[in-house]
Amino acid sequence: MDNMDTRDQVVALAGSLFDRGYSVGSAGNISVRIPGGYLMTPTNSSLGRLDPARLSVLDEDFVHTAGDPPSKEIPMHKAVYEARPDTGALVHLHSTHVTALSCLWVPGEPLIPPLTPYFVMRVGADVPVVPYFRPGSADVVDEIRDAARRGPAVILAHHGSLVAGSSLVAAVNAAEELEVTAQLALLLRGSQPRTLDAEQVAELL
Ligand code: 13P
Repeated sequence: MDNMDTRDQVVALAGSLFDRGYSVGSAGNISVRIPGGYLMTPTNSSLGRLDPARLSVLDEDFVHTAGDPPSKEIPMHKAVYEARPDTGALVHLHSTHVTALSCLWVPGEPLIPPLTPYFVMRVGADVPVVPYFRPGSADVVDEIRDAARRGPAVILAHHGSLVAGSSLVAAVNAAEELEVTAQLALLLRGSQPRTLDAEQVAELL
């Protein structure tokens, strides 16, 4: 079977995210660029119970060519690969703190301040939020494309996160960083935390 190392890496990292509670049930999906197309987690699969041989294979146009039927979230994954051509992998999670924070979003206002250096370094100083669309909707693609041009991570209102990386490891690291920073933002909500200033952010970026 082709791409066995990549398949094993998807299963291992997805399982690690699941084991630590970053995804539950059959929520979340992952895609990785491979020669000639993409590997993607199958629709309705659990990130904790993936079979490397059954991962969906998509061609360069995101047409399903082998494996189980792919995630219904192909439209938003495709939109990020198009907007950010250096993307090697994408991780979509419904992790608790990002999703909680997304329900508090006020359009036009930043949702997560630059609280820590690793958030700025791995995720960016200003994570865009996309309004609510039903999971799997193709209507989200214009919003996703615009947001993805601003940085590697997008928060989906009432839904979760979509995080790009040059590799799967980079995407997973950034998705984890986003989730813990959302947790910090919730812990600090109602207080007046100092944030990194513009000069500190610029140095990190
Ligand atoms: P899929 O099972 O089709 O990947 O959908 C899961 C999900 O997270 C929807 O947002």
